[in-house]
Amino acid sequence: MDSLIDIDRRHVWHPFTQEATAPEPIPILSASGAVLHGVDGKEYLDLISSWWLTTHGHAHPVIAEAIARQAKKLEQVIFAGFTHEPAVNLASQLVAILPRELTRVFFSDNGSTAVEVALKMARQFYLNKGESREKFLAFDGGYHGDTVGAMSMGATTGFFEPFRPMLFSVDTIPFPETWQDDQEVEKKERESLEALDRYLDENRKDCAGVLIEPLVQGASGMRICRDGFLQKFAERVQRAGVLLICDEVMTGFGRTGAMFASEKAKINPDIICLSKGLTGGFMPLSVTVCTNTIYEGFLGASFDRAFAHGHSFTANSLSCAAALASLSLFKTENTFTKISKIEKIHQERIAPLSDSKKITKPRVKGVIAALDFVTNDPGYSSKLAPLLKEFFIKRGLLIRPLGNVLYLLPPYCISDSDLNRAWDGIDAALQEIDF
Ligand SMILES: Cc1ncc(COP(=O)(O)O)c(C=O)c1O
Repeated sequence: MDSLIDIDRRHVWHPFTQEATAPEPIPILSASGAVLHGVDGKEYLDLISSWWLTTHGHAHPVIAEAIARQAKKLEQVIFAGFTHEPAVNLASQLVAILPRELTRVFFSDNGSTAVEVALKMARQFYLNKGESREKFLAFDGGYHGDTVGAMSMGATTGFFEPFRPMLFSVDTIPFPETWQDDQEVEKKERESLEALDRYLDENRKDCAGVLIEPLVQGASGMRICRDGFLQKFAERVQRAGVLLICDEVMTGFGRTGAMFASEKAKINPDIICLSKGLTGGFMPLSVTVCTNTIYEGFLGASFDRAFAHGHSFTANSLSCAAALASLSLFKTENTFTKISKIEKIHQERIAPLSDSKKITKPRVKGVIAALDFVTNDPGYSSKLAPLLKEFFIKRGLLIRPLGNVLYLLPPYCISDSDLNRAWDGIDAALQEIDF
């Protein structure tokens, strides 16, 4: 009889994978807490929260039961002309914890579409006011998803070369990435703000929005910037009358040490995009939340002013039930105490590595710890990445480097000893792998 892998190899196409050279996918049977259980009985400690999704832990019973309860009551209903309690409760609970003024919740079902919604919302908001603003600004290295608008905004990541003719043109400015003991940070921040000033001077009346990943750029290598810089940045954008859009698809729900990176950086975006950790990593769901001023810009007597956007699964009630259960766990499980503990362990374990000649740019922000391996082929397609991945998998550690950038982003339920085991693995990689 064909094995699961045989059938997978015959019929399945995996994302972000070179199927010709990648090792066989690992069949997973179940998961609990921070651990994935393979069908062959092997265990893998999930140190990347399964693509930055899992928050409280895999198969958390409170979230699992909330989904099951909801499934027996109402699994899905068209969200145009109808509404339901899980969506309404979730919207009001999100508004209560989001930065002030973000009061209108538009649902979709993944991070990329949350970004598409934000771009279209910004464009039509100005159009409804009689202003045809066609430009958008982003940071170099920003990643916002794989749909066409999101790819356009993230073109500088280099992931989207085959699709370049499909993308619209987006202006970018330098991202002042920093790390521990970085001596150049002020210069980089000054240059970035000067580039922003020049851009806004020329384009303030044509630019519909500035889209940023606040505090941490995820996919381009867990690149971190400072809170104070973001405050100056946000202040300039909003003073110029341009909408500030925060893509918190990755940073939302505790990753940077506060519920939202915007809260941590003390900025108030006009639009925020959330997904991934929104449902604790259980169900596909996203929201694009905007100010009342933006919402009111779409009101009027004719449909022309309305936001003609929607997805079949908009505000799926199972996903909303999962998100509500996940939010409740932040309180009942003292999640932010766990997050602080993870950050402390990261800081203790990364500190001694900063003397190593094999790594650069050690950095920690909330539960995210990252460092760059020094190699002669840096970047996403570095040959080091598959080597490291295999090295860790053999040790039962799911760590998936972004090229030569190695990072940890564990679920909040991880135990101190498991987290230390991951760091021991990194120490071993530095000693044992030749690069
Ligand atoms: C910051 C950011 N925005 C958007 C996305 C796209 O989300 P999705 O993969 O759910 O479409 C991602 C995914 O990694 C992300 O990190």
